[in-house]
Amino acid sequence: MKNYENVMIFDHPLIRHKVAILRDKNTGMKDFRELIEEITTIMAYEVLKEVPTHKVMVETPLETCEQEKIVEKSIALVPILRAGLGMVNGIHTLLPTAKVGHIGMYRDETTMEPQTYYCKLPDDIQHKKVILLDPMLATGGSACAAIEYLKKIGCKDICLMDIIGAPVGVQKVAETHPDVKVYLSTLDRELNDHCYILPGLGDAGDRLYGTK
Ligand code: PRP
Ligand code: URA
Repeated sequence: MKNYENVMIFDHPLIRHKVAILRDKNTGMKDFRELIEEITTIMAYEVLKEVPTHKVMVETPLETCEQEKIVEKSIALVPILRAGLGMVNGIHTLLPTAKVGHIGMYRDETTMEPQTYYCKLPDDIQHKKVILLDPMLATGGSACAAIEYLKKIGCKDICLMDIIGAPVGVQKVAETHPDVKVYLSTLDRELNDHCYILPGLGDAGDRLYGTK
């Protein structure tokens, strides 16, 4: 795959280690859920590099000094349901008061086109840094539809966090939305005939919630 300026693929042994366990078909629901959260938390250190901070005065036991804090209310986490929900706690662990909006989407099993069935976002989301969450970036249809909707309602600062992506999906988001930074823990090889990622991890929603 071509290098895109707006795509960052993590290269870290800890992520490779955790993704290896995540992929394993024998990894059960509890471990799968915890791994999704842990990988999200590790990725968050990089993703949150660009969040706004403000100056605060702090009294240490010895003196008063000027420090910085993240403006938590300037961030909105937007998981794409269902699987994106599994990533929310990975960031809430670090920033517990970040607001959360939800976009519900599923892929039509014949056309693979994303179908939106739910949307509830924080009122002032247009003024926030939006972190869109979805563990799987396959054809890129769901991510692009969510980004297009967020832009249509006025969001200007959007980034996307995915755990596993296929080249075709990464390319679609990177080229359609060059202003959206894509953070990907792992780039996989390709899609199969049913648009599942190979080697992938199967259906992330089903593995998170035990629906199959
Ligand atoms: C999965 C995944 C993404 C989408 C990726 O969701 O969580 O949202 O597929 O595929 P795409 O890049 O080809 O659009 P799915 O539609 O299976 O819904 P679910 O999370 O409810 O299981
Ligand atoms: N959605 C998933 O959950 N897994 C894939 O491999 C592709 C889309």
